[in-house]
Amino acid sequence: MKLLRRCLRILILSLLSVSVFAPLVLVSYRLKTITSIGRREFIDDLWSRPRDVEALSSMEQEAGESLKGPRPIVFKDNDFQSREGINSLEFGSNPSKEHKDNRFEDEGEKNNSYKATGQHDRGAVKRDKNARIPQSRSVDYKVKEMTDQLIRARVYLSFAPPGSNSHLTKELRQRIKELEHAVEEVTKDSALTKSALQKMKNMESSLVKAGHAYPDCSAMSSKLRAMTDNAEEQVRMQKKQVTYLVNLAARTTPKGFHCLSMRLTSEYFALPPPSERELLEQKKLLHDTKLYHYAVFSDNVLACAVVVNSTVSSAKEPERIVFHLVTNSLNLPAMSMWFSLNPMGRATVEVLRMEDFEWLSREYDLGWKVHNFSDPRFTSELNYLRFYLPNIFPSLDKVVVLDHDVVVQKDLSGLWHVDMKGKVNGAVETCQENEASFLRMDMFINFSDPLIADEFDSKACTWAFGMNVFDLRRWREENLTARYHEYLRLSNERPILKGGSLPLGWVTFYNQTTAVERRWHMLGLGHDSTVPPDDIEKAAVIHYNGAWKPWLDIGFGEYKGLWSKHMDFDNPYLQQCNIHG
Ligand SMILES: *[C@@H]1O[C@H](CO)[C@@H](O)[C@H](O)[C@H]1NC(C)=O
Ligand SMILES: *[C@@H]1O[C@H](CO)[C@@H](O)[C@H](O)[C@H]1NC(C)=O
Ligand SMILES: *[C@@H]1O[C@H](CO)[C@@H](O)[C@H](O)[C@H]1NC(C)=O
Ligand SMILES: *[C@@H]1O[C@H](CO)[C@@H](O)[C@H](O)[C@H]1NC(C)=O
Ligand SMILES: *[C@@H]1O[C@H](CO)[C@@H](O)[C@H](O)[C@H]1NC(C)=O
Ligand SMILES: *[C@@H]1O[C@H](CO)[C@@H](O)[C@H](O)[C@H]1NC(C)=O
Repeated sequence: MKLLRRCLRILILSLLSVSVFAPLVLVSYRLKTITSIGRREFIDDLWSRPRDVEALSSMEQEAGESLKGPRPIVFKDNDFQSREGINSLEFGSNPSKEHKDNRFEDEGEKNNSYKATGQHDRGAVKRDKNARIPQSRSVDYKVKEMTDQLIRARVYLSFAPPGSNSHLTKELRQRIKELEHAVEEVTKDSALTKSALQKMKNMESSLVKAGHAYPDCSAMSSKLRAMTDNAEEQVRMQKKQVTYLVNLAARTTPKGFHCLSMRLTSEYFALPPPSERELLEQKKLLHDTKLYHYAVFSDNVLACAVVVNSTVSSAKEPERIVFHLVTNSLNLPAMSMWFSLNPMGRATVEVLRMEDFEWLSREYDLGWKVHNFSDPRFTSELNYLRFYLPNIFPSLDKVVVLDHDVVVQKDLSGLWHVDMKGKVNGAVETCQENEASFLRMDMFINFSDPLIADEFDSKACTWAFGMNVFDLRRWREENLTARYHEYLRLSNERPILKGGSLPLGWVTFYNQTTAVERRWHMLGLGHDSTVPPDDIEKAAVIHYNGAWKPWLDIGFGEYKGLWSKHMDFDNPYLQQCNIHG
């Protein structure tokens, strides 16, 4: 009996000692045998704790900010009593407090983000979140790690010789299958299981094995590089396609515009011609050098309508405005019809067609016809007519040329009083490097050619078409049209200029251009969606240069309104042709 009790005592004591010492032994054993994976987990743990605390407090602040009035009651701690803290005192004594809190609890049922803040005790909030957020964070992290392992395993597999069925590839395939399954499970339940962690460990050791099996780093990296290149090539192709489509959209006239042109044209021929007296009266104004003359070269009826209407509506003295619209014979009827149906107040509008300029073929060998650009925006003959202004308007001294993709927002009569300093062309400059409109001479002009290098300075300031004041008297004195033809001929013989009329303008008006203030002409609304609204508002003329024209579907939505407000879309012709703002 005594022996039995003794044995029992020894047994109990030894059990006790085991329960006391075993944890100590086990912990120290674990500390010694932290594997590489174990160490990473350990470090992750160390890392994740402060991060989660940070995340937690920022979450709480966010949630707090999304609440209006009663927030200060919910968070009584000093941390959360910022400027509104004072309100909380008032609110604290407010008898409606209970009612408000109930409201939040009700909403809490529907919306998780309110649920936590609806609790009265902040401690409870914290505990609740502690239980949820860090868990999902570390799960996210593990899922990322798993995906990373999967990618690495697949790279090793793709690196194995095709058709190989070695032990290692089989193992990798098996591990990939397992891990994919684990990732699925984890993302479904957003909980990590022991088996998932075990699968990660297995995968890691297989990957280490694979690393030993393929020690040839350079082959490996070239394989990886090839994969990256492949991806980059796809991105490049996509970008190319987008550019192509945008340019295509910019070149194609929307269906509604064709419809409008057709309808206006058929009406035009049903109209009785204007009387002699009307024509005579108009003629007087067209040549009056005391009036403000504007020229637009275009085949787009709607675009011209907006340019003219916006100029006239912003003008202080619309009766002194004369518009000369130059188009081709195809569009002349529609253009004339539009402006006789929609007279622009007391302003005068004349429509000319280039086919009537018989001096053009008589006096000049039409160099611009042989120009061979793939983009019709550059080949449009109308685009090059601006170099013949003194011939088109023999009786005028000064003219402002507007592109058809501009909108006038201010009275422009001040342009007629700008000091031109004896120069021919007044334009805004585009040589400030920090601006979106920045252009350098050598972007379009080939300075490797000695002829160019001798005559021009590649650092000379560049300027923009779109809104230019031309002094036609000085132009005639300087024979600039002859100079234009000289460079046109040269550029047909050797590769000195590229891309449209702008570089031709730079060389033609070299030394003959004076800068006008930037507020007169704001560029970029057709290619830059980040133009500061302040600059747009202040500008006298805004220019949708680029492919994103305001009348196209691709145009920037935020700038379309500035254009479409000058067009009455209730007009029956626009309605019939399904053209909307
Ligand atoms: C909860 O509210 C937030 C912010 O008001 C909202 O973004 C979220 O969609 C809502 N969630 C549900 C489930 O209603
Ligand atoms: C214009 O380009 C086409 C094809 O790109 C070519 O066949 C033709 O000879 C070119 N014309 C001139 C005048 O360069
Ligand atoms: C620039 O001009 C030189 C000389 O005329 C010519 O050899 C060269 O190909 C041209 N460069 C380009 C990009 O056209
Ligand atoms: C312009 O050309 C005319 C004749 O073509 C010539 O008489 C005149 O001297 C030229 N003026 C200048 C500035 O070159
Ligand atoms: C531009 O002006 C400068 C100085 O006034 C002169 O030296 C140069 O020859 C001129 N260049 C051209 C192309 O007229
Ligand atoms: C011209 O523009 C004004 C606003 O600036 C607009 O009210 C009017 O309808 C436009 N006229 C036409 C014919 O589109």
